Amino acid sequence: MPAPVSAPVSAPTPDAASGTAFTPRIFSGIQPSGGLTLGNYLGAIRRFVTMQDQGGFAQTLYCMVDMHAITVWQDPDALRRNTRELAAGYLAAGLDPARSILFNQSRVPEHAQLAWVFNCVARMGWMGRMTQWKDKAGKNAEAASLGLFAYPALMAADILLYHATHVPVGEDQKQHLELTRDVAAKFNHDYGVDFFPVTEPVIEGTATRVMSLRDGTKKMSKSDPSDASRINLTDDADTIARKIRKARTDPEPLPSDYAGLRDRPEARNLVNIYAALSDQGTDQVMRTHGGSQFGAFKPALAELAVETLAPISAEMARLMQDPAEIDRTLAAGALRARDIAAPILERTYDIVGMLR
Ligand code: AMP
Ligand code: TRP
Repeated sequence: MPAPVSAPVSAPTPDAASGTAFTPRIFSGIQPSGGLTLGNYLGAIRRFVTMQDQGGFAQTLYCMVDMHAITVWQDPDALRRNTRELAAGYLAAGLDPARSILFNQSRVPEHAQLAWVFNCVARMGWMGRMTQWKDKAGKNAEAASLGLFAYPALMAADILLYHATHVPVGEDQKQHLELTRDVAAKFNHDYGVDFFPVTEPVIEGTATRVMSLRDGTKKMSKSDPSDASRINLTDDADTIARKIRKARTDPEPLPSDYAGLRDRPEARNLVNIYAALSDQGTDQVMRTHGGSQFGAFKPALAELAVETLAPISAEMARLMQDPAEIDRTLAAGALRARDIAAPILERTYDIVGMLR
C-alpha cells in the first residue's frame, strides 16, 4: 500500500489477469512545448517530487510527453531544447533518476502502440466533449491536427501502459483523467476482462490552478502570448519581482479572511501562490497578511518566489551545460520504462486477439 497521500486513496483494484492487486504506481507527464511556468511547478513538478520522496509506490514514472507536444506544430530544434530543459527542470526540482523513471515518451514506442488500440476503444463523441480540444481547436476545428483530437487517447495510453494507479496533475487535466477511466472501463467491459486499473487522479493543494498574473480568470500558461502573465522557472530574480509587482490586483487591501477573496480572483490567486510557496494553508496566510496593502504583500510574495525558484533555475542552467548527460539519463529511463510497458502491451495485444 502507498503511504497516505493527503487525498483519499481507494484500495487498488484487483487485477483479474494476474490474480493480484494492482501495484501502486505513479505516472505523470508534461509537454515540452515551451518553458516551465510557476503553474507547472506548483501544480505538477513539486508534487511529483513529494510523491517520489514519500515512498510507498513501486515506481514513480515522470515523462516528457513529446508526442503530445507535436499535436500542434513545434520547431524541431525548439522541441529538442525544450525536452532537455524540461528534464533539467525535473532534476533541478528534486526528481532523482535513481528513484524515479524519467524519459521522453517517443522513446518508448509502446505508448504509440497502446494509443492505437485506445483510438479504437474511445468514441468520437468523448473526444469532441473535451474542453482542451474545444479551446485549442477553436472555431477552426477542420484545420486542427487529427493528433490534437486524439490527444486524450494517447494520454490514457501513457497512464494505462504502466497500470498506473495514481496520477498527480493540475486541475485542468481532470477531464482527461475521467476519460482515461472511461477508456479503462470500456476496454475491460468490451473484452470481458479486469485488466486495466481505474486510475485515481491526485489533484490537491492550494495551487492546482495557478492563474495568469494579468487576468485572474485565465490559467497561467506557457503558451500565453504575454510573458508578463506568467513566471517562468528560468526568470531571474529581478524579472520575478517585476512581474509580481506589476501583477494585476484591485485597489482594496487584503481582507481578513479567505472567504473575503471570493469575488477577487487576482488577489485570491496571489494568496494561493503565497500559500503554496510557503507550504501554509490559505487561512494561515490570511492570519499573517489580512489587512495588508498590496504594496506590502507583493514584495513579501516576490521574496518568497525568488527564494524558492532561484536555486532551481540556477541548477537548471548548470544541467543545461551538459546536454549529453541529460540525454543519457533519459535514454536509461526509457529502458526501465520499457521493462514495465512491454509485458502490459503484450498482454493487451493477446486480449484483443493479435497473433504473436
Ligand atoms: P502542460 O504544461 O499543459 O503539459 O501541463 C503539465 C502539468 O502542469 C499538468 O499536470 C497541468 O495540470 C499542470 N499545470 C499547467 N499549468 C498549470 C497552472 N496554471 N496551475 C496548476 N497546474 C498547472
Ligand atoms: N495532458 C497533460 C497536460 O497537458 C500532459 C500529459 C500527457 C499527462 N500524458 C499524461 C499528464 C499522462 C498526466 C498523465 O498537462
